[in-house]
Amino acid sequence: MSSELMKQRINKAQMEIDLIKEEVLGSRYRQKYHFMAEAGWINDPNGLIYYKGQYHFFYQYNPYDAYWGAMHWGHAVSDDMLHFTYLPVALAPSESYDDDENGGCFSGSAIEYDGKLWLMYTGRAKLDGEYHQTQCVAWSDDGITFTKYENNPVVTAPQGYEADNFRDPKVWKHGEYFYMVCGAKKDNLAKALIYRSENMLDWEFLNVLAESRGELGYMWECPDFFEIGDKHVLMFSPMGLNECTSVYLVGDMNYETGKFIYSTTGRIDWGLDYYAPQSFNDADGRRIIVGWANSWDWMPWFKDWGPSFKDKWCGFFNLPREVVLTEDNRLKFIPIKELESLRCNETKEKNITVLKDRYLLKTDSISCEIKLSVNLLKTTAQQINLLLRSDGENGAHICIDFKRQEMSFSRDGADGWSNGTSRSPLIMADKEHLDIHIFIDQSSIEFYTDDYMTNHCLNVFAPCKNNRNYIFAAEGKAEFNFIECWEIKKATD
Ligand code: FRU
Repeated sequence: MSSELMKQRINKAQMEIDLIKEEVLGSRYRQKYHFMAEAGWINDPNGLIYYKGQYHFFYQYNPYDAYWGAMHWGHAVSDDMLHFTYLPVALAPSESYDDDENGGCFSGSAIEYDGKLWLMYTGRAKLDGEYHQTQCVAWSDDGITFTKYENNPVVTAPQGYEADNFRDPKVWKHGEYFYMVCGAKKDNLAKALIYRSENMLDWEFLNVLAESRGELGYMWECPDFFEIGDKHVLMFSPMGLNECTSVYLVGDMNYETGKFIYSTTGRIDWGLDYYAPQSFNDADGRRIIVGWANSWDWMPWFKDWGPSFKDKWCGFFNLPREVVLTEDNRLKFIPIKELESLRCNETKEKNITVLKDRYLLKTDSISCEIKLSVNLLKTTAQQINLLLRSDGENGAHICIDFKRQEMSFSRDGADGWSNGTSRSPLIMADKEHLDIHIFIDQSSIEFYTDDYMTNHCLNVFAPCKNNRNYIFAAEGKAEFNFIECWEIKKATD
């Protein structure tokens, strides 16, 4: 009976999408090569998995509005993580534990087991007048149509934990067991709880995998845990840490006790629009992460989610990145090499000197890639500035400030809509060159530097006439070993 209700809800959602998708697809702020839904609202990436020869991306989805609402799981597949085919909505609210206008099927993850594709998600609904978040299971034989487990929920918040702050299960297999980590809150402090199971249905609480003692916020959304090299990584999006939207911890795991002891802490991205990244292993064993390119209304700089709501859609993902562990146990986040297949119209220049007058880069596309190498031995400037998506006057402004040892990315005045500046330290130690890699798309700019260890993603909703990109120096000259530009071909519908 209840699977009948989910079917009806999915059909209803599909009709809504079909009704508006043509109008949405041609609209002005649509990205050219970043993942989006056909129409409506999306937030977190969910259930990312390489399954039976294809990448499956699921996502937090409200097909009925360009704003957050009762959460469904949207679904799309891809051969290269860049070109996608949309599939029917995978999960819709339909049960007492997930059917609520302020709830639904919240974030979760996927795993292959017994030839089936299993989804683990958080159901949010009211019980006796209070909201509860519980962990639930669904599966599919064909990777398209899902059935919710009749004995859901399979895990509820432990005694002493807040019932409405227990969410976002990430599952993986290690040895004989399945493991799951969930974000939780107790005594106003964030915890990551680890559970284990032999069959994906019966779960036992193992331990508090890791926790905040105040320094890492009061709640961790979308925790993710994986092995890399001889280390383990816990990532999450913390609540209550001001400018900080994504954290990683590198350390060692004891599967007997369920305790993770970390020694390194870092930021996945310093930008204003990078949240809730989820990881998965791709076909070649690379560890890939994908994040949601937006922010929540509780963040200090929040203004709104951008102007695309006028065209009946909102939200996209940041570019997939490969995670690489460094020798000193930090992480690099490198945009996947598949992106190179979208390059065209290459220009390469060598040994360029830039002074205070603006130097116009040789790409006027609103979807392009730029790579720069600053020669730090020959550069005398105190600042190197980039003015991107500019109309000749205004633009998004990246400033590499050698004096203050800081990088900043400001979008104040960049598009007449957005505001806010993200900032990160500029790590100079003994370097001979500074590498900069930029991806510009219709409505966002991704900025990678410091060998992909310091990155900023920000959304910018500038019109197409803002298609110039400049560099200029302050207080001295900037010397570039090379400047390379490409136009990027359209990959999205
Ligand atoms: C993170 C998040 C998750 C939750 C989902 C709801 O962005 O708040 O914690 O499951 O979004 O859509």
